Parts: sequence; C-alpha cells; structure tokens
Amino acid sequence: MADQHDTEPSSSPVPDTGGGPAGAALSGPVMVVAGARPNFMKVGPLQAELDRRSIHNVLVHTGQHYDPAMSDVFFDELSIRHPDHHLEVGSGSHAVQTARIMEAFEPVVLAEEPSWVVVPGDVNSTLACSIVAAKLGVRVAHLEAGLRSRDWAMPEEVNRVVTDRVSDLLLAPSPDAVENLTAEGYPASAVALVGNIMADTLLSNLERAKARRVVPHLGLEPGGYGLVTLHRPSNVDDPAILASLLAVLGDLADEVPLVWPVHPRVRQTLEQMNVPAAITRIDPVGYLDSIALQADARIVLTDSGGMQEETTVLGVPCVTLRTTTERPITISEGTNQLVGTDPDAIRAAAKLALDGAVEGRRPALWDGGTAGRVVEAMLAHRPGPDRLGGASGS
Ligand code: UD1
Repeated sequence: MADQHDTEPSSSPVPDTGGGPAGAALSGPVMVVAGARPNFMKVGPLQAELDRRSIHNVLVHTGQHYDPAMSDVFFDELSIRHPDHHLEVGSGSHAVQTARIMEAFEPVVLAEEPSWVVVPGDVNSTLACSIVAAKLGVRVAHLEAGLRSRDWAMPEEVNRVVTDRVSDLLLAPSPDAVENLTAEGYPASAVALVGNIMADTLLSNLERAKARRVVPHLGLEPGGYGLVTLHRPSNVDDPAILASLLAVLGDLADEVPLVWPVHPRVRQTLEQMNVPAAITRIDPVGYLDSIALQADARIVLTDSGGMQEETTVLGVPCVTLRTTTERPITISEGTNQLVGTDPDAIRAAAKLALDGAVEGRRPALWDGGTAGRVVEAMLAHRPGPDRLGGASGS
C-alpha cells in the first residue's frame, strides 16, 4: 500500500497528461476513489482505460474496508495498481466514518488538484468524497448514477441521492437510471448512459475465475448447489429476521446444498445462532472465486446489489432477499426475483429457479465496453450553466 495520509502529489506510473486530445483536455489527474468491497472491481477497468489512453490518474483508497479478504484480495486478483493515497479510516458509525473520510480526503484533493474526482457506487466513501470534491470546485463524475431503491431507510439510498445531486456528470448504467435522473430534473447534458462497468470486469475475468476451480475444491458440483450471501443491516442486524431467513435457507439446503461466504458484519451475530448444518459457511471469498461460485450455481440467494447484476450477466437465477431494488433491470430483463424476507415468497421463487423456469438476457451496454464510454463522456463534458441547480464550480 502507498503512504498513509500522503498529501504530496502522487507519482503514478502514467504522469503524462499530454496524451493527445485526451490529456490536453484535462488540467490535472483524474482521481478515482475506492474504499469498499463492492467498488474495487469497478475501478479496475477504469484505471486500465485511463492508462491505455495515457491519462494521468491517481487512486484513493479510503480504507472503509480494510480486512485483506475485503480489500487487498481485489487489488491482487485484478492487478489494480496500489492506491496512491490510503486514508485508513476504518469502521465507525455512518457519521463518524463519513466525517473521517471527508477530513482525510480534502488535503489529498488540495495537493493533487485533480481535473475530475470519479466516485463509484453508493457507499459512505462515495458520498464523503463527492461532497469534498464538489465544495473544492472539482468536477465530480458519479459512476453508477441514477439508481433508486426509493427506500429511504437504506443508507445507500441517501448516499446515491446526495452524490448525484453534487455531481457534474452522471454516468448511468441502465435506461431506468436515466429515467430517474430525468424525472428528478437533471439536464440531459449532465447524464451519460454508459452501461455497467461491473460487466467489464466480469466478462474479462470469467475464464480466469473458473480456472481457479473453487467449485470442485469446495466439493460442489457445477449446477448442483446454491450460493448465499447476506450483509444488509435490515437482514442481519436483527436476530429475529436473521433466524427466520436461516430457517428457510435450512429447508432449501435439504434440497440443494448451500454455500455461504460470511461477511464480517454477520460473523458475530451468527455465533449466537443456530445455523442449519446443511449450509456450508466459508470465509469471505475474493472476486474471482465469487464470480466462479455464481457462474456455476443453480441458484443465488442474496441481498447484494452487485450480485443481482452479476447473476444477470451470467444468466444464473437470483433470488433477492430484499423488498426493494435499485436495479430493476435485473428483474425486467435479467434473472432476478425480488422476494423480501417472507418465507413463502422465498420458497416460491427458489422453486421457480430450481425448476429452470427463470430466463433472462443481458441488458444493452452491459457488454464490457463501459470503461471506454466513461472516459469518452468525461472528455466530452464541458462545465455548463445547465447543471441541476446552477453552474459548475469548476
Ligand atoms: C458497506 C456498504 C454497503 C455495501 C457493503 C459491501 C455503506 C453505507 N455500506 O456495508 O453498501 O453493500 O459495504 O460489503 O457504505 N468490517 C470488517 N472488516 C472490513 C470492513 C468492515 O470486519 O474490512 C465489519 C466492521 O465490524 C464494520 C462492519 O463490518 O463495522 C460494517 O462495515 P461498513 O463498511 O460500515 O459497512 P458494510 O456492512 O460492509
């Protein structure tokens, strides 16, 4: 990892911003932010695309996720350059974590004078860094803009809405996201439909992922097991809700073996609970094993946002244990069923999946070319008075 709280301008291996028209249009480096597990795989293709075009870029890791299995493994497996700045903020309440990131990020922006700050996703790091950059007058690009669950109790929904509001360029993964932004009044000039950058990472790593053979190593048959992941506070923080989910998953595991990589957030709660023996719990897996486990699963049961998308790309049935989704295209076009936590609804959806009655297709622009479209949109963007709420500060 790079220097902690390093506020000196970075020495990225690609210092040349004069790489033709691309570099010429930018006054400083493109600063890409990552901090939590669901976003590391989104920065890989972007970093590679910026490097390919010789556009100076620096990576900031906020340290929101810090366990090697939640962070380092993604950098190693996806050959993402080590961060130029590591803010090491760690865990805390939402306010504490967000505030720590903001405090640590501001001097980094002041030192690097980036032309853009790119914030992917909807985690606390996304929110914190977008606000800091906007207030310093640096253009903000939100990668994965426009997603809405309309569930204000979900911390990520607050993060999404606020991040979009302070961003200059809204990089939408799907037409529903563009519709949301249009309905909220964002001008078309601030929105670019670029597709899903997770598909870039998935499609280019799938064969490598399968070659690691995690499925046979776990004693599983391809197409003969289910994959479970749970980490949303609404599912795992209340022992009564978690117990009810465990009961229905236990019944299902009698039909099809279930494997469950356990998120650190759930570990402690689970220690005091009765987990059905037919569910195999394993440590959190890295990106490649996660993809391989999804690709060969007969069914995926999850409350993850990213896995709703990954299963849709892979054509694997997904049962989402939430009442809302900010990714409706995974239902309308993909393989996702949204069932909440009602045991009967979970059973019915699982039956459809196990009967092979779930079909889907990969949405347009989830094609592996999103990183290129992101960079094109940034280069084409001109700060203008038609940004929602007035002119850009840059
Ligand atoms: C965060 C994101 C969520 C995302 C999830 C993926 C927010 C609001 N939430 O939730 O959108 O889906 O990441 O994992 O940003 N912990 C560790 N090791 C780590 C990181 C966390 O043990 O490396 C434990 C800590 O006890 C911590 C808890 O997990 O308090 C929660 O971590 P936090 O980053 O606050 O939220 P997540 O639940 O991971």
